[in-house]
Amino acid sequence: MSRRSFIAGNWKMHGSAEHVEDFSRVLVDAAPSLNCDLAICVPFVYVERLARLLEGSEIAPGAQNLSHSVEHGAHTGEISGSMLADCGADYVIVGHSERREMHGETDEVVVAKAEAAVAAGLRPIVCIGESLDQREADKTEAVLKRQISALTSGCDRQTLERMVLAYEPIWAIGTGRSATPEQAQAVHEFVRTQFADWDATIADSLPILYGGSVKPDNASALFAGADVDGALVGGASLKSDSFVGIARAMG
Ligand code: PGA
Repeated sequence: MSRRSFIAGNWKMHGSAEHVEDFSRVLVDAAPSLNCDLAICVPFVYVERLARLLEGSEIAPGAQNLSHSVEHGAHTGEISGSMLADCGADYVIVGHSERREMHGETDEVVVAKAEAAVAAGLRPIVCIGESLDQREADKTEAVLKRQISALTSGCDRQTLERMVLAYEPIWAIGTGRSATPEQAQAVHEFVRTQFADWDATIADSLPILYGGSVKPDNASALFAGADVDGALVGGASLKSDSFVGIARAMG
């Protein structure tokens, strides 16, 4: 099965209306010459503006979080998947390690959010990955196994079919210390095998992105891995030239 390459940007809590406008203009111009699918996940308040600016292009707008609740109701400050879809979002990041660590999102919450995303017609980009302590204690595979089994046992089949997975070793996020291409490929292969034990068809078509200090100068080596289908890019997605440079590395 040939999987389409996919590069998604994660702006985190960065950006402004002007930044969204400038970035979108450059990206829309560059997109026809890029050989991969593209998405940009911005803070909630810019999703609608971004979607308007990307209209007619192949670039997908996205958000970085959503409520676990499908039902609208008394959830002050929360944003539902259907609200994001209303604003034009196609993708939403779920379970980023910053949300797991700073906002207490457990595997169960991540499953509920992935389900809520798909119920609203969005594609969830679900993040998994180990901390430095866990890697050094040789627990990487055990941690990933737990995170993956929460997804395969908790999510509907339809959710898994719509899911994009992002392997993001926490020690590589925002540190400038990317995983080596060999480390990334080894984990991606392990992740795909875990899904294959559950359902070979879904495992084969599952896009698995690598995230953690991806830059234009390390992207093509990382993308050489047979199971590395693209990247979830944080810092380098804020500048249109570096984001486009990473997308060009897809070949
Ligand atoms: P980074 O972030 O590219 O800045 O390391 C990746 C992410 O957190 O998604």
